[in-house]
Amino acid sequence: MKKTIRDYDLFGKKVIIRCDFNVPMKDGKIIDDNRLVMSLETINYAINNGAKLILMSHLGRIKAEEDKEKNSLRLVSERLSELLGKNVLFVPTTKGIELENAINSLNNGDVLLMENTRFEDVPGKRESGNDPELGKYWASLGEIFINDAFGTAHRAHASNVGIATNLPSGLGFLVEKEVNALSILNEDIHPYVVILGGSKVADKIGVIENLVTKADKIMIGGGMAYTFLKAKGYNIGTSILDEESIDFCKKIMNEYPEKIVLPLDNIVTKEFSNDVENRNVLVSEFLDDDMGMDIGSNTIDNFCANLDNAKIVFWNGPLGVYEFSKYTNGTERVLEKLVSIDAKTILGGGDIVAAASKLGYKDKVTHASTGGGVTLEFMEGKELPGVVSIMNK
Ligand code: 3PG
Repeated sequence: MKKTIRDYDLFGKKVIIRCDFNVPMKDGKIIDDNRLVMSLETINYAINNGAKLILMSHLGRIKAEEDKEKNSLRLVSERLSELLGKNVLFVPTTKGIELENAINSLNNGDVLLMENTRFEDVPGKRESGNDPELGKYWASLGEIFINDAFGTAHRAHASNVGIATNLPSGLGFLVEKEVNALSILNEDIHPYVVILGGSKVADKIGVIENLVTKADKIMIGGGMAYTFLKAKGYNIGTSILDEESIDFCKKIMNEYPEKIVLPLDNIVTKEFSNDVENRNVLVSEFLDDDMGMDIGSNTIDNFCANLDNAKIVFWNGPLGVYEFSKYTNGTERVLEKLVSIDAKTILGGGDIVAAASKLGYKDKVTHASTGGGVTLEFMEGKELPGVVSIMNK
């Protein structure tokens, strides 16, 4: 068991909290502040317990000096101030006397946000390369380290692993909640059903290899299903194909023929557009110029039937081109079924969570993970360095 923020007396202590404030930005504005909202529980807990808060996060990827300006955390500090209803002191640097003085002037309950940790990547990749001196320096700024950056837990960087190896450490509420919820994936409860969508098989090979040994069924929809159908010898017309993964699809269907469930039919059209006509065709009926956009009605029935008695369902990736209103139907019907069954239901990965949120099902599942890449790595069965590096109880 890992220590958590609850295991420490925070009163009067300088507490470094690593958050994942890597929010999407467009034209100098934050377009989705969900990651900030998700971090509030831990931040408010530390404020209410009299800590002096030193918040750290990365934003974007910093490869050159010119990447810095548009990836400053200044806007994040402003939005966070609004969300917390109190001032967040932004320090526009990642080391040195200005930062140290600001930290030393904090009163109990005050909140400071340091500039983007990845500014230390230019020059020298000191943050992403987990430079030991940088981790030690950042650790020297505080007395307790709390890792609440779930989205970054698959990275071993100076601002998570580096600091954790130099200070008493614990998990924040968000990381704790995510890890507990996703650990359901490792439970031996059946029927265990996995739903996978999204466009590329290559991105999901590790996930399929790990989950196929645990699950009773893996139902495959979305763009990746066409590569499986092609591997079975079907004509998939102009549908998205991940040529390099055909051999993997053949292998996995050979080894687990009873577990892999493919579409029986699809909604096809002639152009990647919401505005042209479409047809519902059996997978054996694709014409050379047909492009698959969504699962068809027989497939929806079959996927729903497989969910009937399920006790655990894990879902990653939408089943159709959900950005187009005409092709959300498959995802929506299966979500509707999902929230009606008596099972632990977990959504993992940005796209299916965004689809569920848009369609009004996000709050009806057991857990909707906030992670992107980290959730996939967890599903692959990999250890997360950002969690492993935290002290055990
Ligand atoms: C994410 O958005 O997935 C995390 O913040 C990690 O970002 P990264 O892929 O740039 O490390």
